[in-house]
Amino acid sequence: MSLLTGKVAFITGASSGLGAATARHFATQGARVFIVGRNEEALSQTRAACQQAGAEVVAQTFDVGDRAACFVAIAACVDHFGQLDVLVNVAGKHYLHHSTEASLNDWRQDIDSNLSGPFFLSQAAIPHLLEQKGNIVNVASIAGLQGQAYSAGYCAAKHGLVGLTKALALEYAKTDLRVNVICPGGMDTPQVSSLQMPEGIDFELLMRSAGLRGMMTPEEVAPVIAFLASDSASAIHGAVYPVDKGKTVG
Ligand SMILES: NC(=O)c1ccc[n+]([C@@H]2O[C@H](COP(=O)([O-])OP(=O)(O)OC[C@H]3O[C@@H](n4cnc5c(N)ncnc54)[C@H](O)[C@@H]3O)[C@@H](O)[C@H]2O)c1
Repeated sequence: MSLLTGKVAFITGASSGLGAATARHFATQGARVFIVGRNEEALSQTRAACQQAGAEVVAQTFDVGDRAACFVAIAACVDHFGQLDVLVNVAGKHYLHHSTEASLNDWRQDIDSNLSGPFFLSQAAIPHLLEQKGNIVNVASIAGLQGQAYSAGYCAAKHGLVGLTKALALEYAKTDLRVNVICPGGMDTPQVSSLQMPEGIDFELLMRSAGLRGMMTPEEVAPVIAFLASDSASAIHGAVYPVDKGKTVG
C-alpha cells in the first residue's frame, strides 16, 4: 500500500512547477486526483503523467480567484469521485513591483491567486473534508515568514495564507480536519524563470530572499506535501513548515 492509497486529492496550480510535481507525486502514491490549472495544454500534460502512473484523473481549468468557480469545481470533484480527502492549494502568482507603482489590478492578482483562492476552495471543501477526516495543505512561501523586496502584495498574501491556515486550524481544532501550510524557499519553476524585473531595482535587496544552498526543484518539495496530506501526519495540525534548505534559519 502506498502513502495516499484510497485518497482523493484536489490540487491547484497543476499546470506547471510545484503543482504539477505534486499531482505526479500524489499519483505515484496511489491518490486519485482532481487537478486544476489555467493553461489547458500544460494541464493535459500533467494529466497524462498522472495517468501513466496509474491514477484516475480529472482536469479542469478555472481561475481560483473566482469564488463561484471554486464551489462548482469542488462539487464536480465530489460528484466524480464520491469523496474528497485532501485539498492542496498550490496555485499562486508572484509579480515584482516598486510598491508605489503597483496598479490596483496588480494588487488584486496577488491577493486573489495567493490568498482568496485558497480561502474560497477551503470554504467549499471543508464540509466534504470533515466527512472524510481529511486535510488541507496550503503552499505559502518564505515570503509568508519574512519580508521580500518589491513583493508587497505577494508578501502580504503569503503572510495572509499563513494566518488563514492558523485561523482554520483553531476553528476546527475540535474536529478531525487538519490544516497545515508549507513555506518553500526558491524553487526552479516557471514562476521564477518568468519573473519580470522592474527598472531600477536594487539587486542586493532582491537577492536577500535567495538561499545559501541554491534553488530547490519542485520534486524535492512535493513529497513534503504528500507526507502532510497522508495519515502518517495525523499528529500535525496548524503547523507552519519552512521547506527552504535553511534559508529562514537566521
Ligand atoms: N518558485 C518559487 O521559488 C516559489 C517559492 C515559494 C513559494 N512558491 C509558491 O509555490 C506555488 C507554486 O508556484 P511555482 O513556483 O510552481 O510556479 P508556477 O508558475 O510554475 O505555478 C503556479 C501555478 O499556479 C497557477 N495559477 C496562478 N494563479 C492562478 C489563478 N488565479 N487561478 C488558477 N491557477 C493559478 C498557474 O497557472 C500555475 O500553474 C505558488 O503558490 C508560489 O507562490 C514558489
